[in-house]
Amino acid sequence: MNSASAIKTKNTAKATSATDKRFKMLDATIKRYQYQQDALIEILHKAQELFGYLENDVLIYVAHSLKLPPSRVYGVATFYHLFSLAPSGVHTCVVCTGTACYVKGAPAILANLEKSVHIHAGETSADGQISLLTARCLGACGIAPAVVFDGTVLGNQTPESVCEWLRHCFAERIKGWLEGTERSPHS
Ligand code: FES
Repeated sequence: MNSASAIKTKNTAKATSATDKRFKMLDATIKRYQYQQDALIEILHKAQELFGYLENDVLIYVAHSLKLPPSRVYGVATFYHLFSLAPSGVHTCVVCTGTACYVKGAPAILANLEKSVHIHAGETSADGQISLLTARCLGACGIAPAVVFDGTVLGNQTPESVCEWLRHCFAERIKGWLEGTERSPHS
């Protein structure tokens, strides 16, 4: 990466981080680890939970926050199989299954989503449209149960509200998913 594109990427990361709540959650994790460079793997793990995968802006943001060279962060992110640098599905849905969310109904939310899109957590729908993921704690326990849809953190979710969101966002697509298991009255 030349210096001009590095600056541009850094500026883009800054602009995005100002509006995307997930960066605040990532900040909380980085602070909890006291900006220790040794905590890079744990921090990247949290970033992947929040964002679904490690996009370029996120890697730059982590590098900047920990005062590490981006090459080091990229090196770690590409070395470990548990990290993904590209989204598997066009859309990502991350259900928090941390303690606060768990006791407030995350299992029922996850079960309803799995049933609706016919995939299990950690999988991507056959049409490549949506990846369903889980996180241990998004850092938004005050609004538990929390779910992140394509970067939007939604709190106080219910099994019905998440499916309503799916219907709203993927009107035609979800129709197909929902009808995928329906049997014709004549079959
Ligand atoms: S346990 Fe879900 S946000 Fe903390």
